[in-house]
Amino acid sequence: MSVWAIVVAAGSGSRFGGPKQYERLGDRRVLDWSVAAARSVCKGVVLVVAGERVGEAEPDVDAVVAGGATRSASVRAGLAAVPADAEVILVHDAARPLAPTALWRAVVDAVEAGNDAVVPAVPVTDTIRRQSGGTVDRSDLLAVQTPQGFRADVLRRAHASEGEGTDDASLAEAAGCVVTVVDGEPTNLKITTTDDLAMAEARLR
Ligand code: CTP
Ligand code: MG
Repeated sequence: MSVWAIVVAAGSGSRFGGPKQYERLGDRRVLDWSVAAARSVCKGVVLVVAGERVGEAEPDVDAVVAGGATRSASVRAGLAAVPADAEVILVHDAARPLAPTALWRAVVDAVEAGNDAVVPAVPVTDTIRRQSGGTVDRSDLLAVQTPQGFRADVLRRAHASEGEGTDDASLAEAAGCVVTVVDGEPTNLKITTTDDLAMAEARLR
């Protein structure tokens, strides 16, 4: 099947203190790791960056487009640049540079096997407490990662109503689609704070 990826890299990194996806990690930038992983399993890659960065040379991508004010708006901008004949579309946070190729492959395989929407997820290991009081039963909780994979028409439908969510599976689910979970990878950390970048550095070494 024709598999495309959208790598979203248009965030401002407010919790990090700057656009973390352009920080150095090993011998390249955070977003270069994400693009390289996408490239290794997908036929095409659309990179979504902040408006002022459109026009900067980005290796190994088929299109660079300007993102929006929210993650969901950025995904929609990327989606508009994915060719109409794409059959499977993966959406990935540039801020997850360590997602292994095997995980990308597993997500693609699960969509190609007939699932409409596929998310990698790992069990929650911390005890979770509500700010309003009370501990949540963590046995029912999963921490969801990217890349998330979709049948192309499912992802387009999920975004048709211009909804907002912190990921795409939640929009697909809201649009009535069944979300399938595959095993995530505990090492697939999302860089949110400067400590996370240090952790990713340590993992690479
Ligand atoms: N993202 C995006 N467009 C936005 C917001 C986020 O493309 N308007 C991307 C980020 O660049 C990141 C991914 O979505 O790769 C996940 O978002 P997050 O980790 O929250 O990054 P930021 O929004 O940049 O960080 P913060 O929430 O701390 O501001
Ligand atoms: Mg954010």
